[in-house]
Amino acid sequence: MTSRSFPNDFLWGTATASFQIEGATDLDGRGPSIWDTFCRQPGAVRNGDDGDIACDHYHRVDEDLDLVHRLGVGSYRFSVAWPRVQPTGKGPANQAGLDFYRRLVDGLGTRGVEATITLYHWDLPQSLQDNGGWVVRDTAERFAEYADIVARAIGDGAARWITLNEPWCSAWRGYEVGDHAPGITDVGQAAAAHHHLLLAHGLATEVLREATPEVPVGIALNLAALRPGTDDPLDVAATLRMDGNRNRIFLDPLFRGEYPADMLEHYAGREPGFSVVRDGDLAIIRQPLDFLGVNYYSPEIIVDATRRQAAREFGYTVPTRHESHDLAAVGVQSPGAKVTQMNWEIDASGLRELLGRTSREYTDIPLYVTENGAAYDDYVGPTGEVRDGERTEYLRAHLGAVLDAIEDGVNVVGFFEWSLLDNFEWAFGYSRRFGLVWVDFPTGTRLPKQSYDWYAETIKAKAL
Ligand code: FCB
Repeated sequence: MTSRSFPNDFLWGTATASFQIEGATDLDGRGPSIWDTFCRQPGAVRNGDDGDIACDHYHRVDEDLDLVHRLGVGSYRFSVAWPRVQPTGKGPANQAGLDFYRRLVDGLGTRGVEATITLYHWDLPQSLQDNGGWVVRDTAERFAEYADIVARAIGDGAARWITLNEPWCSAWRGYEVGDHAPGITDVGQAAAAHHHLLLAHGLATEVLREATPEVPVGIALNLAALRPGTDDPLDVAATLRMDGNRNRIFLDPLFRGEYPADMLEHYAGREPGFSVVRDGDLAIIRQPLDFLGVNYYSPEIIVDATRRQAAREFGYTVPTRHESHDLAAVGVQSPGAKVTQMNWEIDASGLRELLGRTSREYTDIPLYVTENGAAYDDYVGPTGEVRDGERTEYLRAHLGAVLDAIEDGVNVVGFFEWSLLDNFEWAFGYSRRFGLVWVDFPTGTRLPKQSYDWYAETIKAKAL
């Protein structure tokens, strides 16, 4: 088999997020976040799991940085916990919180690894939620202040900023579906949250440019590779609605300065909804960006909500996790699909498609795959190893899709594997393992899996 090479300057990385790994949720002045609260709602998170200990990364940061270093990545993507920096989401910085991130960026610096810093990966200070959360404009303004504090404290150690991680999840899962914190189920609130998240991104971008002019700024979106289940016009229309809510409702304002007309029409009359948009907001949202982050795991196959039975007759499994009652669209699973432990269908061609479409239709700025990876039912075998060949195969296929995109002429410049460590997988608690490194949760012991070695070798060879 001939090997396929990556460009010499391709950026290799791995990623984590504060709430999923840090633990130490009430140490050194950290305030509570919406995820701490959500975890305490009965039935919200599997097994009643919470982030109190997680991977205990707060205490094991040096050990984890050694793992990052040994992997050979050029960059480590982590997120800053807003409630560690500002326990109530406003007011003066908590120095102990900033000290932790200083230690982290310095630790990366000494190891020769770049810091890719996400400012918001879902852990909103609970006090801001008590004040209305992302549904109110004030939260966007507070976010800009927080961004300023972080930039001035650790910006000298930042190689790039990511303002928000997957704002779709924050807005629509947090406020419409309700399976993520804060667990609200109200479409009008979700739409308002959506706008305020994008506004927060724009305001923070301005602040970051001012505080650290030399550091590139971007955002990480979980864009969706959507496919109609059949060519029936109803399924095609349902897919277009999903495309509006998952893709165009982000890409249009970010790159064209407008919300898609069909989505504005769809959400009209939902209060407060898009009535919160003020003159000038879209100009703030449409800031020139230095790069765009794309998170991709799985394609999504969509049928109209009235066509469940028809989809079954085509051999699809109905429904999967992707169901939007409001958009009357249902996600289905292809006949004989291979899935990960999340039950997410595996198809790397969706990644190539997504990168291609984004660059064709919206922007030629550099694209990073800011997340890609897979959960499997790993275990430590009698030899003391975790033989996670399926994860390796998954990563190989998706890195192959990145090479395909590059050959298609798309400007993809880096790839961050999700995730360095097994961690707190949100509503799934500790039941889903995405790590290159096994974490024994009761003791915190780390054990690199076979995929860790494979990724390290791939990075070294710069080839598949
Ligand atoms: C993404 C999240 C990340 C992780 C992966 C599996 O949606 O950004 O925190 O949970 O999915």
